[in-house]
Amino acid sequence: MALVAPSLLAANFLKLEDECKMVNESEADWFHLDVMDGQFVPNISFGPMIIDFVHRVAKKPCDVHLMILEPSRFAETFKRAGADHLIVHVETCPNLHKDIELIRSLGMKPGVAINPATPVSVLEDILPSIHHVCMMSVDPGYGGQKFIPHTMDKIKQLRKMIDEKGLKTLIEIDGGVTVENAASIMEAGAHVLVAGNTVFSAKDPKAIISHLKKIG
Ligand code: DX5
Ligand code: ZN
Repeated sequence: MALVAPSLLAANFLKLEDECKMVNESEADWFHLDVMDGQFVPNISFGPMIIDFVHRVAKKPCDVHLMILEPSRFAETFKRAGADHLIVHVETCPNLHKDIELIRSLGMKPGVAINPATPVSVLEDILPSIHHVCMMSVDPGYGGQKFIPHTMDKIKQLRKMIDEKGLKTLIEIDGGVTVENAASIMEAGAHVLVAGNTVFSAKDPKAIISHLKKIG
């Protein structure tokens, strides 16, 4: 069964509390929260203040995805805001090992994200020390983009690497996940489906979440 993490980027922010309650009542596993700085990615979303509000209502872990430069500068701030998982991008962290240690020492589960053009081989040495890999299946910055097909091969490669090392690291797929492609993504070896527009643009978001869970 897939783990499902609805991305609040696609939520209606005028009704944020209701959107969070919907996720609480649904079969979703995590809240996925996308932080963008207009530097690493060409868009600005929200920061720790919004995450703090969400975390007060959320009854499920907050999976915070930092698409920002120098993410470790803000690790403590996001911990205080209520992040349970903190994801940093490999492309923004020259001292990735140190950053992962920092996230863990603050009591959060470390995740590492890679962009579509970054090969999975960069993860080989740090896989044992992280909770999950956030594999981007779109170029980060916007919700509602189309899934990049070659991600399927990357999922298979990464899953093989994880299994060969006997690890429990989870593979989370982020970007362009739909009801149509979710089964193939899970077959390729993913564990967690992030879904923004597929969930929040649906007439019945809870039913879509249940459906995504069962597909896996
Ligand atoms: C993209 C974000 C994603 C985004 C996914 O940069 O990291 O989490 O919200 O949105 P959908 O599911 O609409 O592609
Ligand atoms: Zn994300």
